[in-house]
Amino acid sequence: LAWPGELSPVYSPVQQRVQHDESEALQPLLLGYTPLLDVDTALQALDAAVAAYDLGRGVWPRMPVLERIQHVEQFLTQMQQKRDQVIQLLMWEIGKTYPDAAKEFDRTCDYIRDTIVALKQQDRAASHFVIEEGTLGKIRRVPVGVALCMGPFNYPLNETFTTLIPALIMGNTVIFKPAKYGVLLIEPLLQAFRDSFPAGVINVIYGRGRDTVGVLMESGKIDLFAFIGTNKGASDLKKMHPKPHRLRAVLGLDAKNPAIVLPGADLNRTVAECVAGTLSFNGQRCTALKILFVHQSLVDEFLAALTPAVEQLPLGMPWQSGVKITPLPEPGKTDFLRALLDDATAKGARVCNADGGERMGSLFRPAILYPVNAKMRLYHEEQFGPLIPVVPYQDVQQAIDYVIHSNFGQQLSLFGQDPVQLGELVDLFSNQVGRININSQCQRGPDSFPFNGRKDSAEGTLSVVDALRQFSTPTVVAAKYQ
Ligand code: G3H
Repeated sequence: LAWPGELSPVYSPVQQRVQHDESEALQPLLLGYTPLLDVDTALQALDAAVAAYDLGRGVWPRMPVLERIQHVEQFLTQMQQKRDQVIQLLMWEIGKTYPDAAKEFDRTCDYIRDTIVALKQQDRAASHFVIEEGTLGKIRRVPVGVALCMGPFNYPLNETFTTLIPALIMGNTVIFKPAKYGVLLIEPLLQAFRDSFPAGVINVIYGRGRDTVGVLMESGKIDLFAFIGTNKGASDLKKMHPKPHRLRAVLGLDAKNPAIVLPGADLNRTVAECVAGTLSFNGQRCTALKILFVHQSLVDEFLAALTPAVEQLPLGMPWQSGVKITPLPEPGKTDFLRALLDDATAKGARVCNADGGERMGSLFRPAILYPVNAKMRLYHEEQFGPLIPVVPYQDVQQAIDYVIHSNFGQQLSLFGQDPVQLGELVDLFSNQVGRININSQCQRGPDSFPFNGRKDSAEGTLSVVDALRQFSTPTVVAAKYQ
C-alpha cells in the first residue's frame, strides 16, 4: 500500500530487554507502522464517502437490502480466513490473552451473522399494512447518511464492528478510524473491505484525532457519529460539528459500575464474580465492576476470600497459558493507576494483597484497596485498570445514593439471596442503569441484548436488532387507493 505522509510506529505493550540483561531497562517492542494521514487525505476519504452516499441517491444506499447483505456475507467469509492473524495481533497489540482474543474475534463474527439474520427477518416483516379503510401503508427504513465509526482500544474489533456492520448493512457510507492501540489488526481486513464493498462505501483513516477526525467533523458532512470511548473524546468531537442538532450520535462512554454485596450473599460466588468482574482483561472493560460496596457484617470474610483469589492470579505475557494479568497498552497508565492508589492510601485506605500496585514495566499487579471512602479519587473516578476499591457500608442507602447521584449509569451488580430486597432494588435501579446483574458480574454479552446506559454513560442503544434501528430512519409511505 502506498500511503501519503508520515509513518507512525506502533509499539506493543509487551516490553523486552534487547540484551537480555536484567539491569537493562525494559524497551517497548516495535510491532509495525501506520500512516499518519494528513488533513487533505482525510478530506479525500470524506469526499469518497459523501460521493458514494450522494445524498441518498448512490448505488449503496439505494441497493436492495438482500443485495447489501450479500456484500457483508462476502466480507465475513474473507474475515474468517484472517482469524489467526487478527488474534495474534490482538495479543501483541493490546495484550489480550489468547482465549480472550479468540473470544473477541469469534463473537464479532457471530454478531455479523446475527445481524444478517435479524435484517432478513425485519425485511420480510416490513410488508404493507392497512392504515385505515382505503389507505395502505408501508414503513421503509432508510439510511442516515455518512457515518463516522470509532472504537476503543479494549475491544478494537468487537466494539467497532458492532457499529460499523449495522451502519454498512443499513446503507450508510462509512469512515472508520481504528482505535489508537489495536490499529494494526485492521490491516489483514483491508483487502476484504476492498473486495467486498463498492468504492467509497467504507473508508479507513489513520492519524491523530485532531488532524483527521476533527476536520471531518468541522466539515458538517458527517451525519452519524458512532463512538465508543471516553466522554471527553466524544464531546470534543461532537462540539466541532457546525450543526450538532443534525448529527445522530450513538455513544458508549465512561462508567463506574458498582457491585452491592448485601447481607446473606453467597460469598464464594460473590468473590468469584467480583474477581472476574473487576479484573478480566486487567479491568480494562467499560463494563468492569469498578467499586464494591460490601455490607459491614460481611466485609472481613469477603476480604479474607478476595485477597488470596487476587494474589493467585498469574501475571505474565498474553501467550502464556493460564495467565490472567497482562501488560497494559496505554503509555502512562501505570502512573495513573499508581496515583489513584497513592491518593487512596494517603487518605486512609490500605492495600490488602501482597505487592498490590507493584509495577514491572507495563505490567501492574492488581491492588485491593480498603476501606475506600468519598474523599478518595477512586470512589468517583473510573480507573479502567486493575484496582479494586472496597467500600464498607452499614446502611444500604449509602450504596443507593451512590448510584442515584453518580454521573454514570451503565450497569450494576447486586449480590444477595433475599428475593424481596433484590426485587425492591431492581425496581429502584431500573431507571438508573442500562442493566442490573443479580449474583453475577456486569457484562455486555450476549451481544443480542440491548447495550446502553443512562446519564453520561451512553447515548442510544446497541444490540443486534437495536443497532439496525440506530443506523437507519423510518420513512412512512401512505397511499390512498379509494
Ligand atoms: O468495554 C466494553 C465492552 O463492550 C465490554 O464487553 O462486558 O462483554 O466484556 P464485555
